[in-house]
Amino acid sequence: MKKSRIFSGARPTGRQHIGNYLGALQNWVKLQDEYDCIYCIVDIHALTSLEDTGNLQKNIREMILDWLAVGLDPKKSILFVQSHVPEVMELHTLLSMITPLSWLLRVPTFKDKIKLQPENVNYGLVGYPVLMTSDIVLYKATVVPVGEDQLPHLELAREITRRFNGLFGYTFPEPNGKLTNYPLIIGLDGKDKMSKQAGNDIELAMTEEETIKKIKTAYTDPARRYRSDPGHPDKCNVYKLMGYFESTGGNGIAEKCRKAEIGCVDCKMILAEVINKALRPIRQRRDELATDPRYIDEVLADGADRARVIARKTLTEVKKNMRLI
Ligand code: TYM
Repeated sequence: MKKSRIFSGARPTGRQHIGNYLGALQNWVKLQDEYDCIYCIVDIHALTSLEDTGNLQKNIREMILDWLAVGLDPKKSILFVQSHVPEVMELHTLLSMITPLSWLLRVPTFKDKIKLQPENVNYGLVGYPVLMTSDIVLYKATVVPVGEDQLPHLELAREITRRFNGLFGYTFPEPNGKLTNYPLIIGLDGKDKMSKQAGNDIELAMTEEETIKKIKTAYTDPARRYRSDPGHPDKCNVYKLMGYFESTGGNGIAEKCRKAEIGCVDCKMILAEVINKALRPIRQRRDELATDPRYIDEVLADGADRARVIARKTLTEVKKNMRLI
């Protein structure tokens, strides 16, 4: 039986963090056996917030290293860079003609971006979800494993798909989002989504020392002001982060925190150890992969070749249906 197709992607704005890992990457790895998977480093999307592209090539390589290290397998999945298959930009232009501007202006992530980068509200930012829709439908993917923050984009992708099919005849299946058990990881500041831009992240590729140093800056239980105050683990993001990597049920930390037998600094050290332990094999594998840059080139070239075959076929069908050819 033919497997359903998955498409997902991430912006190469830097190295992947544990929010990306828990919210998306872990799922991508698992899904490789069940689905026909395509994972894309979306460099064109990254341009909507990068004015200085000096690090773009470096970031792309960092990202593919992270992906391979967590277990994405180029023998099972197509791994490629978005701009290496430029058909997506052509489809983006075509889909932009049938997408009402009002749909795009109401997307919550667009409103957030205006606040985050008021000096760079570019045209591409408004069309971001149209490009994302193009990514997905160009490969006729039906399942899109993402974190919760991407769901509004997927809602729009479904609306655009429906509109296209209604206007030009059935062409694309409607894509559906697929969440992990941890679809929204809060950053070390304890309030915002973990992200590179907010600086509240822990990168997969950090050293153990860097991880400890960064976790020392984490916010814990806001109600616990002194070491002698009883803590509230259920309100503490450090405690929550611990639970993503190790079952906290039987380790007694919550109880000790409630009785003020351990302090927040102790908890942060425990978190650092838990994360370092969980990431150790990934970091080791990443270091090994980094010694062979030719392999990375081969993986990306092969991924683009395989993706291009599918992309060209869909684009021809789209143009025929739109009476462009
Ligand atoms: P990006 O690069 O922001 O994030 C990549 C993936 O990581 C998830 N994620 C998180 N999950 C939980 N908690 C967090 N703190 C967290 N931060 C990030 C994201 O939800 C995402 O799944 N627009 C997309 C990239 C994209 C795409 C696509 C995705 C472009 N085209 C087509 C799917 C299909 C983005 O910026 O992801």
